[in-house]
Amino acid sequence: MPLNIVVGTQWGDEGKGRVVDLLARQASIVARFNGGDNAGHTVTVGQQTFKLHLLPSGMIHPHTMGVIGNGVVVNPTKLLDEIEMLKEAGIQVTPERLRLSYAAHIITPGHIALDEAMEKARGEGKIGTTMRGIGPAYTDKVARSGLRMESMLSPEEYAEAFKEHLEEVNWRLVNQYQASPLDPEKAAGLAFDQARRLASYIGDVSQLLHLALKNGEYILAEGAQGALLDLDHGTYPFVTSSSPTAPSALLGLGLGVNCVEQVVGVTKSFQTRVGAGSFPTEISGEPALRLRGTGEKPWDEYGTTTGRPRRVGWLDLVLLRFTARVNGYTELALTKLDVLTGIDPLQICVAYRDRRTNEELQELPLGPGKLMDYAPVYEQLPGWREDITGARRWEDLPPQARSYILRIEELVQVPVSLVSVGPERSQIVEIE
Ligand code: GDP
Ligand code: IMO
Ligand code: MG
Repeated sequence: MPLNIVVGTQWGDEGKGRVVDLLARQASIVARFNGGDNAGHTVTVGQQTFKLHLLPSGMIHPHTMGVIGNGVVVNPTKLLDEIEMLKEAGIQVTPERLRLSYAAHIITPGHIALDEAMEKARGEGKIGTTMRGIGPAYTDKVARSGLRMESMLSPEEYAEAFKEHLEEVNWRLVNQYQASPLDPEKAAGLAFDQARRLASYIGDVSQLLHLALKNGEYILAEGAQGALLDLDHGTYPFVTSSSPTAPSALLGLGLGVNCVEQVVGVTKSFQTRVGAGSFPTEISGEPALRLRGTGEKPWDEYGTTTGRPRRVGWLDLVLLRFTARVNGYTELALTKLDVLTGIDPLQICVAYRDRRTNEELQELPLGPGKLMDYAPVYEQLPGWREDITGARRWEDLPPQARSYILRIEELVQVPVSLVSVGPERSQIVEIE
């Protein structure tokens, strides 16, 4: 019963889309289990680039089926746009190829307006959210007052519930945040239309996945965001409102713990972050420019969803070890190794120094919540100058690049099974 869970090990944008697309070659189903359209997953096939926010990246392959699990929050407008976008690119998305969990929660214009109003109210302490309504939608879920996909099965009732929800949101927007109200009548009309268009996609995905696993099919669970943005295990409060860690795949798809075969931790060869919050290995100036790029190349470090420049820094192995603990990686997929070409020496963070006591620590005493109390302790490694974008075998990599990978394996105690040397599907070194 093989389920392979693919998760981000850092603050998101590790290259999960690229890795899922690669692994989806053998998969029959690819399933998203957390987050919403705050995610931006890029897949490059030949000259074509796809940026997916909600649909599973594995759906680019014509043989796969896509699933959106109960752990996801769905903005129907974004979902319908994305289905259209793929259709225009020649990829058919029909109810036979895409199933939506009846228990997934819906993101409304009210959640988006609240996200904006709440960020504004946070002032200096703002999280830097993607403004996609993620936090407010999950808040309604936990408060047991949200709208679920199943309500779309009767469009009239859905439109009515939608209107009532917006009236409540309006009360908060006006009285709590002094923000402009939305038009519930207009939004309810749109909701009715969307429910009619999406109803045939809705079903029990847990049952579908169970049956597929029973038949011995290979299923990929595609995580959004990364472990350090996890609501419980991340850099709280500068996190997202879902759990991007591997155990959440089971909860977010309706599966039991006995089906997991692999947990692939997608790790960028350096560290990036969009939005606010601590980042011990963050760098600025010339080396930062080299890591971030200017924005000219499609893979330069500018947000896929918001276009914001990403903060960049050296690979943090203290944090990677921590995320290995909460995820249980069976292997790592290392991405963007090509971006390190020409940077010499390279630095990796191997320990932290407690700024208050000067003590050197190998592990975080209280998780990553208070990272500002720690300074990174670096180890220098030699860089390489050779172009590695054409490397396809371990032997093709320069010795310094191999040492970099081996040192990561040694410090995290997890094998690296894939090394990505470019964004295109074929630019990969698979390690036996
Ligand atoms: P995700 O959110 O984890 O799926 O990652 P994003 O798609 O937001 O960001 C990763 C970016 O890096 C995308 O532009 C990818 O096309 C690109 N990318 C992925 N792997 C590689 C790689 O090995 N080398 C280079 N140069 N770009 C890569
Ligand atoms: P993928 O799947 C990078 C960040 C936001 C912000 C914080 C909370 O492409 O890796 P939210 O809108 O979720 O309430 O914002 O989380 N964030 C991401 N950063 N990649 C993502 O997704 C992200 N999704 C959310 O920038 O700091
Ligand atoms: Mg992304």
